[in-house]
Amino acid sequence: MIKHPEIKFEKVPCHVAIIMDGNGRWAKAKGLSRVKGHEAGAENVRRILKASRRWGVKYVTLYAFSVENWARPSFEIKALMSLLEHFLKREEAEFHESRLRLRVTGRISDLPRSAQREIARVMKATEKYDEGQLVLALSYGGRAEIVDAAKKIAEKVKCGEMNVNDIDEKCFGGYLYNPDIPDPDLMVRTSGEIRISNFLLWELSYSELYFTDVMWPDFNDDEYAKAIHEYGRRQRRFGDVK
Ligand code: FPP
Repeated sequence: MIKHPEIKFEKVPCHVAIIMDGNGRWAKAKGLSRVKGHEAGAENVRRILKASRRWGVKYVTLYAFSVENWARPSFEIKALMSLLEHFLKREEAEFHESRLRLRVTGRISDLPRSAQREIARVMKATEKYDEGQLVLALSYGGRAEIVDAAKKIAEKVKCGEMNVNDIDEKCFGGYLYNPDIPDPDLMVRTSGEIRISNFLLWELSYSELYFTDVMWPDFNDDEYAKAIHEYGRRQRRFGDVK
């Protein structure tokens, strides 16, 4: 039993990956615009990061923008990109304070130049930190990540640097976007949708999955604690019998 001043958790996941869904519906229910929902969602990111640090969750991966999200209306895409830049500017001091390293996963070169610059700047400024890592999935798709890895491997085979028989799961995993980051122990999706939506398809193979009806802006510390308690009750067997 891991003891914590405020909550006792049976077991704390090292890596939590979250599909932050429901901003739009949260806003609609309140008669607000979808963008207001995303703003509330970004506020909630701060709250969840703080709780993660307090409880000892070392890695948090957030699905902030999927490859499919490019199909949204351009004003919503613009608002999300601008929220991302604001978030990074505003949170940087907090990253330094808590020695949190920023990472990203996804086809980052698809993002607007100014967002790419801001990401690169904060990643560089926090690259030495080891207290925890925030991984933002941006222009991310699980299938795209697997395709990108396959292309890198194919290039190596083509130029004779690798033999086809050398390709196994371990080797393949080494060509994903962030091979040093451990697979998520727990994946949370808010808003009542029960699907993975192209998120970390390779990495979630043995993760525990937790779905809640709560919309992302309302997913507070208590809701997060419920997810971690539920994780603590799960028996992870990784295909074994024990
Ligand atoms: C899904 O809700 C959410 C997104 C596509 C974007 C998530 C973005 C944020 C939480 C804010 C920005 C993030 C950072 C890190 C600054 P939805 O819009 O699909 O909601 P709906 O299904 O109710 O319409």
